[in-house]
Formats: sequence, structure tokens, C-alpha cells
Amino acid sequence: FNVPKAVNEPVKSYAPGTPEREQVLAAYRKMWNEQIDVPLYIGSEEIRTGNTQNMSAPHDHQHIVGKYHLAEKSHVEKAIATALEARKKWSKMTWENRAAIFLKAAELIAGPYRAKINAATMIAQSKTIHQAEIDAACELIDFLRFNVEYMSQIYNDQPVSDSSVWNRLEHRPLEGFIYAITPFNFTAIAANLPSSAAMMGNVVVWKPSDSQIFSAKVIIDIFKEAGLPDGVINVIYGDPVMVTDTLLASPDFAGLHFTGSTHVFKDLWAKIGTNIHNYKTYPRIVGETGGKDFILAHPSANVKQVVTGIVRGAFEFQGQKCSAASRVYIPSSLWPAVKAQLETDVNSMKMGSPEDMSNFFTAVIHEGSFNKLASYIDQAKQDADAEIILGGGYDKSKGWFIEPTVIVTTNPKYKTMETELFGPVVTIYVYEDSKWNETLELIDTTSEYALTGAVFSTDRYAIEEATIALENSAGNFYVNDKPTGAVVGNQPFGGARASGTNDKAGSMLNLLRWVSPRTIKETF
Ligand code: SER
Repeated sequence: FNVPKAVNEPVKSYAPGTPEREQVLAAYRKMWNEQIDVPLYIGSEEIRTGNTQNMSAPHDHQHIVGKYHLAEKSHVEKAIATALEARKKWSKMTWENRAAIFLKAAELIAGPYRAKINAATMIAQSKTIHQAEIDAACELIDFLRFNVEYMSQIYNDQPVSDSSVWNRLEHRPLEGFIYAITPFNFTAIAANLPSSAAMMGNVVVWKPSDSQIFSAKVIIDIFKEAGLPDGVINVIYGDPVMVTDTLLASPDFAGLHFTGSTHVFKDLWAKIGTNIHNYKTYPRIVGETGGKDFILAHPSANVKQVVTGIVRGAFEFQGQKCSAASRVYIPSSLWPAVKAQLETDVNSMKMGSPEDMSNFFTAVIHEGSFNKLASYIDQAKQDADAEIILGGGYDKSKGWFIEPTVIVTTNPKYKTMETELFGPVVTIYVYEDSKWNETLELIDTTSEYALTGAVFSTDRYAIEEATIALENSAGNFYVNDKPTGAVVGNQPFGGARASGTNDKAGSMLNLLRWVSPRTIKETF
């Protein structure tokens, strides 16, 4: 059975005078003043509990853009019951019919809803139009299209049979419901976690990050318009402990699809462990968590390439990517040239509201993040083994703005070389050229994470040495490129160690976690 061949959605330019620029600006201005009111979505019902939280824009935190309604325990229980009821028909629907819904959703985003989903992401997650387009339009569309292609391969991959015996693999959905918890930083991830599980015939209770509910509403409305039956994906917000404890206490909990912080994921895993005797089936646990992602330059590296890798890897998306470059190793022979080029590039970056499309850089997500980053910057200003060579300023008078900041340290284990900050702060350690092998060892042992990393070199032996020595240091390893920006269908994404279960987002591996195969042997 053929599905349409998945192709990556081209990134639009939004150059002055283009229709897409006018459309997204119009959508932005409309949504900015709309005061959207986001209900819980449980089955066919949109529930407004009256217990609400305001949503604001990170680049203008006094501006309220709407509110969302908080669930009580009874709503969470209702979401479970509703999902399980929907499962009766959804799990039996042919995969082709399920696929058609998600392909339709991809086309709605590629066309009529592109401006709206980008504008929502610009407003509530403070992304520039270029960042929003890559995330909320292209990556989201790619996830839907490529996952449909992978699902067709899964369902079509059958064991050998002969004329007297017919062997079949039936890829059943998991027996129960899936709990999807999604982060603020990617609209695409927010859509992918519930939809990839649902695509494989599962039903989902989805809790988006509080800072992403604005665009979560756009996503669920599009899925429904594309034909997603009521109750297949239910959307809940509320006290995270209450929501999680209620969901994990259910004997029908069958899987967790998570992207977020390492400590939350480990706590969830522990809670699942304490409930393990209550479940009907061993739950699938899939999580993508933190990163402390590295860039390593070899003395043979091309300086311009290295600096572009640092600037784009560390500062695009305000550094709020689990893949963002945050620790950098430069050989002393290249340091003067790297430093000079960094100064030129970083000083040319403009910071401000996403509505002004000449800005490269906007605000970080919320006050908690701002305060954390500001405190690490202040500490670096005092520490003898650290020096801030670029940036180091911050301003919260209007939005949560942190300047792109470069720290240089003489201590390879300095705290910002080890700790994930999730913001626009990068730390550089300059190593002696003769200490290449020791530096490889240092990179592997400095951080608990293993998500992404990059080596820059024009020496093939050095590239091979780094690739071997850093085998377990990154699930996505880049040669002569920044360690960010994995493209669905091109670079399956995920890491191990404290970075996650490495069930590569946007790959067949991930979809296989959401099915429980039954083998059928029929003898004639
Ligand atoms: N997949 C993104 C990247 O590769 C991060 O979520 O940068």
C-alpha cells in the first residue's frame, strides 16, 4: 500500500514584500489582541472550569494574550475514561484512515494555518519568524508526513510465509492510554508527541507546557479540523503533580511520551516504578531530556565554519534547545582568530520583539529562566576562573531579555561547562594544541548528558579519532556543522545517558514504541 512520498517542507523566506510576511504579521497582530480563552479538550467537550491562568508574551511580559482553564482531578479522570472509550473505535480503524487525518493536518499547516501557527509561536514562545517557520511550520509538517511514511513501512513489513503457512504481524496499539508531556521550546515537538502515538492507534492525554498552551490550542484545533475523532487526543492543564499522579495511578496507563527536563523525567520514571504492580501492561517510557552539547575544534579546523557553528548553535532560538551548543573547546593556535570573528558576529546580532523581523534574537521564555541565567552570568563576573568576553547584560523591564553571552574559562570543569542552562550562554575552554587526546577524554567525562556534539576539522584522522572517542557522548554527532537543527527524515534525533531514551524523534524506532505486535500463524 503506497502512501505519498514524504518530502521536507521548504522553509519560506519572509523577505520584505513577500505575501507570507504580510500574512504572518497580520495573524500576529490579530492574535496579539484577541485574548484567547483556552479550554480543556476532553472528547467532544471544550471545558471551561473558570479557574484560569493568564498567558503573556515573553518579550512583553505585561501584555496578557489570553488565559487557559485549569483542570481538577475529576477532569483528569474524565479524560482517561473518555480516551479509553474513544480507543474502542480508534484502535480498530484502518491505519490508512488514521494516516489520512495526519496528512490532511500537514496540508492544513502548510497552507491555510501556516501564518496562524507561526504567529502563535512568535507571540507566546517568543520566536523570530525564521525560528517559528522552521519549528511550527516545517518541522511539524515533516513529523506528520515522515511518520506516516514510517507507519506504512511498519504495517507492511511482514514475516515470511509459504503456501501452507501464513505468518502475520499485527501491530496492535498499546492496551490503555498514552500520557504525552510536551515542552515549551518546540511547537513541532508539542504536536509530535501526542500525534505519533495516536497515529499508531493509541489514545492520548496530552499536557502541554504552561508556556506553550497558546500554540497547543492551534494544534488541537487543526487536528480536529483534519478529522481527528473526539477523545483520541485529550488536552489537560493544571497542577502538574495532581495531573501526573492521577494519570499514573490508572491501571490503564500504557506509555509516557515525554520531552522536558532530566529531573522531571527521572521523577516520572520513579513514580511509574512505584505503580508498576497496578498496571495491566508494562508501560512504554520514551523521553528526550537535557543536553550539554559540545563543539570541538581541531587545530586544522576552518575558523569561519567554527564561529558560525558556535553562533548559530548557541544563540539561535535564544539557546533554548536541548541541542544548543553550550560548551566549546578551541585549540590555542586558533583562539585569536576565533575570538576576533566571534566578536564581529555576536556584536552584529539584533535583539528585540519578534514582530520586528530584523531581530535575530528575542526574549527567553519566562522569569524563572531569566533569573537562572542572570545568576550564572553574575557568578561568572565574580569568578576568577571565568571571564565574560561578550554580552553579559540582561534587562527584564519589558521582556525577559538576556544578551547572547560568551564566557571563557580556564577551568574545563567550570560550572557552566557542566550544567545545562537552557539559554543564550556559551562557555569556551581553550586547550593546548598538543592536548587533543586529553580534550577528547575531557569532553566525554565532563557532562552527564549525551545529546548532540560537533567536531570541526579538515584532518580526516582527527575526525575519525573524535568520532570514535566520542562514540557515547552524543546521539547526534555533527562533522563540520553546528550541533543543532536536525531535520526530520534526514537526521533522526535523540540522545542517551541523561539526555533520554534515544528513541529517535521522527523515526520508525519511535513509532515502534507505540505498538505491541501480535504474531499470527495460520496453517492451511
Ligand atoms: N531537534 C532539534 C535540533 O536538532 C532540537 O529539539 O536542534
